[in-house]
Amino acid sequence: MNHIRNFCIIAHIDHGKSTLADRLIQACNGVSDREFKDQLLDSMDIERERGITIKSNTVSLDYTAKDGKKYLLNLIDTPGHVDFSHEVRRSLMACEGALIIVDASQGVEAQTVANLYLALEYDLDLLPVINKIDLPAADIERAQEAIDAELGLDPFEAIPCSAKTGLHVEDVLEGVVNKLPPPQGDPKAPLKALVFDAYFDKYRGVILQIRVMEGTLKTKDAIHFMHGGRDYKVDELGINQLKLVPKDKLSAGEVGYVVAGVKSVQDIEVGDTITLQEHPADAPIPGYQKARQVVFSSIYPMSTDQYPDLVKALDKLAINDAALTYEKDSSAALGFGFRCGFLGLLHLDVVQERLQREFDLGLVISAPSVKYKLKLRDGKEIEVDNPSNWPDPTVIDEIIEPYIRASILTPEEYVGPVMELCREHRSESQTMNYLSAGRLEVVSEMPLGEVLFDFYDKLKMITRGYGSFDHEPLEYRKTDIVKVEILVNKEPVDTLAYLVHREKARQRALHYCERLAKEIPRHQFKIPIQGVIGGNVIARSTINALRKDVTAKCYGGDISRKKKLLEKQKKGKAKMKQFGSVTIPQAAFVAVLKQS
Ligand code: GTP
Repeated sequence: MNHIRNFCIIAHIDHGKSTLADRLIQACNGVSDREFKDQLLDSMDIERERGITIKSNTVSLDYTAKDGKKYLLNLIDTPGHVDFSHEVRRSLMACEGALIIVDASQGVEAQTVANLYLALEYDLDLLPVINKIDLPAADIERAQEAIDAELGLDPFEAIPCSAKTGLHVEDVLEGVVNKLPPPQGDPKAPLKALVFDAYFDKYRGVILQIRVMEGTLKTKDAIHFMHGGRDYKVDELGINQLKLVPKDKLSAGEVGYVVAGVKSVQDIEVGDTITLQEHPADAPIPGYQKARQVVFSSIYPMSTDQYPDLVKALDKLAINDAALTYEKDSSAALGFGFRCGFLGLLHLDVVQERLQREFDLGLVISAPSVKYKLKLRDGKEIEVDNPSNWPDPTVIDEIIEPYIRASILTPEEYVGPVMELCREHRSESQTMNYLSAGRLEVVSEMPLGEVLFDFYDKLKMITRGYGSFDHEPLEYRKTDIVKVEILVNKEPVDTLAYLVHREKARQRALHYCERLAKEIPRHQFKIPIQGVIGGNVIARSTINALRKDVTAKCYGGDISRKKKLLEKQKKGKAKMKQFGSVTIPQAAFVAVLKQS
């Protein structure tokens, strides 16, 4: 086991994790140039385009070190974004060590610190790597200071390198071998294997990524999922060297894949422990956490005849995304759709983009919401994430909402505006920590619902791109939430209803009314648009009645032009929704519901 190293790379987004992983793979000849694609480990298109890692991938590398010995390096990729922190946790549990990347031009950022704490929680040995030293703006000394002051790690151990040019990548591999510990475990003990990832393969079904902690797993073994309770038989197992390479067994300390006839990732829980049906382990591996959906939103097809396609697309996505939940929902305005649960805003974004891009669907997505917990006057307790299920305010006794501890790293000069931004987003407490010269951490306890809207964009704007943000969940706290309905010509438009803190209700209602007034074409009559809380109007705007015929513009005899205009108007109607006596173009929903 001494020749094995199980490690991952943790970093803030964009500090070069995937690029370094690629370089390590190449350096170990894990892949020929022809096979090599940039960002090899990020397999999905969207990941590649947006440069963010969403799903973890693992690769086993053969490395002959300078001491002449051969090592097997299992590099476990981890997502960098906070939405996927439970995936990061599972990846960390499969490792003994981690490389922690610091960008030589950016220094330490919020996610570097957050990931460091996670890694410490799992007792990993850490080796700092200073990346991007090829950049003119690289400042190795400053990065070393930050590693010392902000991460509390030994700056002299840090390995400077350039993942882009390949400079000193060899030193990183030597560091992995010499500074990170080998795994431990007893190959003869009852089997405990951690499922740290799973993905769906068209031809083979679900492929599980596992780390064997104790015992040995062989092909044909009858296995049992200790949390989920299901039983399967191992058809094939082996290691992932970019291609799946079958073996006959995986023993304590080893990392590999298992194919066992699992049909969908929804059938199993990533993070579960596999044991043998015969001679099972007494207890699963500790530290298991279920993925939790914290953001909810309804998704409707732009045109109702695309509904069957949306069903198919969601079923397909869910085969490979166990964190996505969806159930039928319907709206008077938009017909059938789904209420979906996501890990966070980025997860919502990714799902939305995949639906639009891979499945070519036009979508309307309702304003995202968190889950509120309500105590009713009759003593009942309910959870509501969908405005359409919000009870009448007179029956509500108490409402609580989820809070987060946000950590914002910013240059000192922007601290004032950052604190102001937190206050505007209902921050309850703010503390400041000096990290290093000119850099501060603002820690703020605030409602999760407040960061769902424009928080991140605003933060980036007021800190000129230098601010970074991370958060962890806190408990639920007391709040005052109201349901705002939007009425068009006195008729409520259900999709536009939203849940919001009382203080913010009017501001958002005004925004909706104004946008709608711009997007809905004039009719023969005057149309009032109102924001209403339980019958009280809190915002309004009006669309004036149409005075002229659309063709009136074309005075004179150009008949063909008139015809064209009327044709156009007819086509436009196809994308309109009749609402009471008012026709609302689909585009209006999209424009109003678009964030910011
Ligand atoms: P996530 O996958 O989102 O977590 O990001 P990441 O940390 O994997 O970053 P990625 O490897 O995608 O790199 C981000 C950007 O930095 C890319 O444009 C890379 O080309 C660039 N980059 C990475 N390493 C280096 C380096 O050593 N030097 C320079 N100049 N650019 C680099």
